[in-house]
Amino acid sequence: MKVKDLEFKKLIAASKIEERIAALAAEINHDYKDKSPILLPVLNGSFMFASDLMKELKIPCRVSFVKISSYSGTASTGQLKTLIGHEESLFNQDVLILEDIVDTGLTLQKIIEELRGLGAKSVEAISLLRKAPAREKKIDVKYVGFDLENDFVVGYGMDYDGLGRNLQDIYKQLGN
Ligand code: IMP
Repeated sequence: MKVKDLEFKKLIAASKIEERIAALAAEINHDYKDKSPILLPVLNGSFMFASDLMKELKIPCRVSFVKISSYSGTASTGQLKTLIGHEESLFNQDVLILEDIVDTGLTLQKIIEELRGLGAKSVEAISLLRKAPAREKKIDVKYVGFDLENDFVVGYGMDYDGLGRNLQDIYKQLGN
């Protein structure tokens, strides 16, 4: 299967994704049974995962989509990344960050730091996929759907140069 100029092959079928998400949701329903968390899906990649996971949650919960914006700061701060889009106050909230994939973990670490600064009561992360570098660096992801090696993947919300997000299954790049 081709996306733009790269060849991919199927890695995780839609039915497996559905099954795994149901199991993750069951864990969250259990762990947050007396709570009312706010889910923060990180755009763009996590929109499908967020939608499917949320439909399986039985606890009262809110959602607010966030995005990471990169901008150049002053000479002293250099390149900064910041979290944008959360309209609700996160003070004293149980926050669940939803990621499509954690690779180096730099994005997630930055988000967790910012949320702690906003006074969230608890901050945990859920990622559908986790790559080897995040495991090696022991990035703090409480709920993980599937562990990968260093595969580059597309589908189920994830893209290659903006393409492939619409695919129902997850595909990995061939010869990588
Ligand atoms: P990190 O900061 O290195 O953990 O990168 C996380 C972000 O990079 C994810 O939220 C994705 O948007 C993107 N990303 C990392 N690996 C892949 C991949 O294999 N396919 C598509 N996007 C990826």
